Amino acid sequence: MQIDVVTLFPDFFQTPLQASILARATRSGLLSVNAHNPRDFATDKHQSVDDEPYGGGGGMVLKPEPLFALWKARKLEKAHCIYLTADGEKLDHRLSVELSLQEHLVLLCGHYKGVDERVRTRLIDREVSIGDYVLTGGEPAALVLIDAVVRLVPGVLGNFSSALEDSFQDALLDCPWYTRPAEFNGESVPQVLQSGDHQRVQQWRRKQALRKTYERRPDLLDKADLDDNEKKQLSQWEREGLE
Ligand code: ADE
Repeated sequence: MQIDVVTLFPDFFQTPLQASILARATRSGLLSVNAHNPRDFATDKHQSVDDEPYGGGGGMVLKPEPLFALWKARKLEKAHCIYLTADGEKLDHRLSVELSLQEHLVLLCGHYKGVDERVRTRLIDREVSIGDYVLTGGEPAALVLIDAVVRLVPGVLGNFSSALEDSFQDALLDCPWYTRPAEFNGESVPQVLQSGDHQRVQQWRRKQALRKTYERRPDLLDKADLDDNEKKQLSQWEREGLE
């Protein structure tokens, strides 16, 4: 996967991308992240990148001309472009899976009061927020998005299935790669985990995921794809409490 980050602060990305799994993905050729600074494409003597918004209104926005020049010079026109902004569509596991299927992403980090309307219509495919709070700029959000998306790219995690088994949210959300265990039955922890029986271990993990989600994030269960046994288990917990 190729990711081009457009940011006024390229240094922000250096260290995090050189650590751990993202670094390994880069070394093994599964990931290539490059940061580009619009300031390098400013043409006036002050190298300015902000401007009054097209059509007026308060505050300053990222100026379109340096961005258009950058897109052309770095050949970003065909990539899927995401603008990070607090009022965008919320990043969740489902959107991360969808984005992990893209070959080439551009992440535009906002500053000032946002982007010019011409940038929005000509360059941006979707606007994404990482949560209901306002950051000083899009950079931390872009890093979070990179991390959440890249770990889902096949081969990035050593053991492919671990991406889908290791968190309660993952396990319960629709995912094209998640294979539901054939049966769902309850068993005690040590016995199952020591059994060496991969299918039983998976069933046990799925039940733990269901339990954790029921306890901590019951709202997720509304949209989870549960089978009959899991639905039965939930009604039992609702009737009798957790065992
Ligand atoms: N820029 C400022 N706040 C943000 C947020 N919550 N998500 C994405 N980009 C942002």
